[in-house]
Amino acid sequence: GWTMSSFVETELAALTAKVGEDEVVCALSGGVDSTVVAVMLHKAIGKKLHCIFVDNGLLRLGEGEEVAAYLREHFDLNLHYIQASKLFLDKLAGVTDPEEKRKIIGRTFIEVFEVEAAKLPKVKYLAQGTLYPDVIESVSFKGPSAVIKSHHNVGGLPDIMKLELIEPLRELFKDEVRKVAVELGMPDFIIWRHPFPGPGLAIRIIGEVTEERLEILRRTDKIVQSELIASGWYRKVWQGFAVLLPLKTVGVMGDGRTYENVAAIRVVDSLDAMTADWSRVPSEILAVMSNRIINEVKGVNRVVFDISSKPPATIEWE
Ligand code: XMP
Repeated sequence: GWTMSSFVETELAALTAKVGEDEVVCALSGGVDSTVVAVMLHKAIGKKLHCIFVDNGLLRLGEGEEVAAYLREHFDLNLHYIQASKLFLDKLAGVTDPEEKRKIIGRTFIEVFEVEAAKLPKVKYLAQGTLYPDVIESVSFKGPSAVIKSHHNVGGLPDIMKLELIEPLRELFKDEVRKVAVELGMPDFIIWRHPFPGPGLAIRIIGEVTEERLEILRRTDKIVQSELIASGWYRKVWQGFAVLLPLKTVGVMGDGRTYENVAAIRVVDSLDAMTADWSRVPSEILAVMSNRIINEVKGVNRVVFDISSKPPATIEWE
């Protein structure tokens, strides 16, 4: 029968054989998929793997540093951490269209990645954490019904860089990737990490992305994350996060009137992100989130909870 340990064993042997004396570069995003790919390749080919982490300034609070620290502590691998926040934010200035944001972020990522990869002349392969649903969705996205949301989990880099692709997770669903991560002895905080989109917080700030709005969203999102974890709901749901709306409303605080931003909480159940339903998070937990956000995050005076399913809505708001 097919088991995770035999999958890992077979796949590691195949990777070792395929790569031979060449070198591999991988883009580390902080998520479970790319981290599993990095750990597998590290086990298969050791120092012939180079991991590039591009900090685009659109990450959640503490994300990135956590994963980089884990890899540095546990594995002796080549980790290149590139701080590129300013470049991304400069290019996003004034942009409000969701697809335009995705294109700019995708292009800028490739630019930064290419510069770094060019410093590694022996690299022949690009390893990616593409999953089975990514393959399916990107195929269906090419149909005449046009692009729903451009997908940058798939394609892009290799064409431009003339690198051959290695996609060890291409036949797996998310739950299977998590089983592989368990098999590899990875810690819970990586295994259970919710999916996070490549364009990051840029598509969770409706309207223009600015450093100030990123700060508001990071602090709001941190409260949603920590209350999901504290209540035991984090693992029960597919994804939970906050969205910052381009909308101010009136509130009252003490004896003063406020006129501040609205934040939305989005929590969904799903198996593969192709369909999703809003999670029935108990109202007491939502109440704690809402109170904390309004009291602790300067710039937010109203919180709403998203009760739409996919379809017809999507998981992300952009
Ligand atoms: P939607 O919003 O399309 O999201 O229902 C489905 C899943 O995909 C993630 N997502 C993205 N991931 N780049 C990514 O890497 C993107 O542009 C992107 N847009 C959405 C989303 O978080 C959800 O898990």
